Amino acid sequence: GMPAEVTIYEVGPRDGLQNEAQTIPTEVKVRLIDMLTDAGIKAIEATSFVSPKWVPQLADAKQVIAAMRKAPGVQYPVLTPNLKGLQGALEAGCREVAVFAAASEAFSRRNINCSVAESLKRFEEVVVAARKEGVAVRGYVSCAVGCPYQGHVDPGAAADVGAALYGMGCYEVSMADTIGVGTPASMERMLQATMQQIPVSKLAVHCHDTYGMAIANIAASLRLGVAVVDSSVAGLGGCPYARGATGNVATEDVLYLLDGYGIRHGISMDAVLAASEYISGALGRPNGSRVAKALLAR
Ligand code: HMG
Ligand code: MG
Repeated sequence: GMPAEVTIYEVGPRDGLQNEAQTIPTEVKVRLIDMLTDAGIKAIEATSFVSPKWVPQLADAKQVIAAMRKAPGVQYPVLTPNLKGLQGALEAGCREVAVFAAASEAFSRRNINCSVAESLKRFEEVVVAARKEGVAVRGYVSCAVGCPYQGHVDPGAAADVGAALYGMGCYEVSMADTIGVGTPASMERMLQATMQQIPVSKLAVHCHDTYGMAIANIAASLRLGVAVVDSSVAGLGGCPYARGATGNVATEDVLYLLDGYGIRHGISMDAVLAASEYISGALGRPNGSRVAKALLAR
């Protein structure tokens, strides 16, 4: 049934900003992270230790981690595609990292330049090395309900990749609708297949809102017992290797959904709105959250 409490895993500073064409100053990223910390969010994905040739926007990862405030009790995970990324993250003092596999071969090639099987081998090395340092590792399964290159993705294939990440020691696996093509029906099929291999308490969902289905998909996930939801302040985002995919579901929209169900989340909507207005202003674009627009217009 529905969880009494949900953890918001904020991805705005990473997933939200990774695809921006204009160079965002490090200070802006740091201020955004600090404002999200002030809002009471307990997991904030701060940046990525990936190749700067592949994702130039996050080339300042080290500087961001050094400058941002690290509040006690808050996790600031970073993406690490390989041992080199992990090494950078450890040197910067990160205590949590995330690895990202895909349920589709074509997407794996485009995003991390290797097959799914090769990526899992690489991620296992990262997980083993991270855990030796006492660093927690989260896993992602991209394209869990659809792929921009191959289209249909079998729920069993998504479940198998999730199970491989969980089996190698990821503490949680986030099942991602990378391009936002899922509906409650396809999300349910994918989650039901995944829950045969991973306890629902170890699952998160990561929804992009390309087709406007993200909130419906999250509601369906909550009904199946999922209690961790990835979201992005102001609905920032898009993946550089998934053309046409729009932003993640907005954090404000998820909070409004949770409030409607009376599900606890411990986050200040007003403080998230402040962060949301700040980053929208800094990027020079209208706020991408419907809930933010409605609340700010009152
Ligand atoms: P590659 O070119 O195959 O890597 O890229 P390589 O090992 O052959 O190395 C090539 C060069 O990159 C070398 O430098 C390495 O040192 C360097 P050179 O000798 O040419 O000067 N390099 C690195 N530099 C910094 N940090 C590193 C690193 N690794 C190698 N960690 C690689 C393979 C995985 C590195 C590359 O494809 C990559 O960085 N990909 C990242 C792509 C990415 O960040 N995508 C977006 C995040 S995933 C996402 O958004 C989905 C998600 O939100 C969930 C969802 O919605 O689905 C998570
Ligand atoms: Mg994403």
